[in-house]
Amino acid sequence: MPKLIVINVDGDRRELDVAVGKSVMQVVRDSGYDLEGACEGALACATCHVHVDAAWYPKLESVSIDETDMLDFADEPSGTSRLSCQIVMSDDLDGLVITVPRAP
Ligand code: FES
Repeated sequence: MPKLIVINVDGDRRELDVAVGKSVMQVVRDSGYDLEGACEGALACATCHVHVDAAWYPKLESVSIDETDMLDFADEPSGTSRLSCQIVMSDDLDGLVITVPRAP
């Protein structure tokens, strides 16, 4: 079972076991973080925005045009911003590190 490392804005770090096929948004939200995921992964909001660790960012599937458009609405985006509903956990992503931004 792959692990997801989640860091919050205060720097607290948790390691979560994640079922393959679950989106990072689902896992983070279900783990009690303040990540809304308002559109449930339909790419119609930016409330699932996270910052991906710089070393991991290039290992993810590339960002679609629709995701790029929606990231324009994210609060304080960075060069490694992603919409977490578009990141689906797999064994290849074992150890993925993300930071959950402060809720707007
Ligand atoms: Fe709306 Fe990810 S939950 S775009």
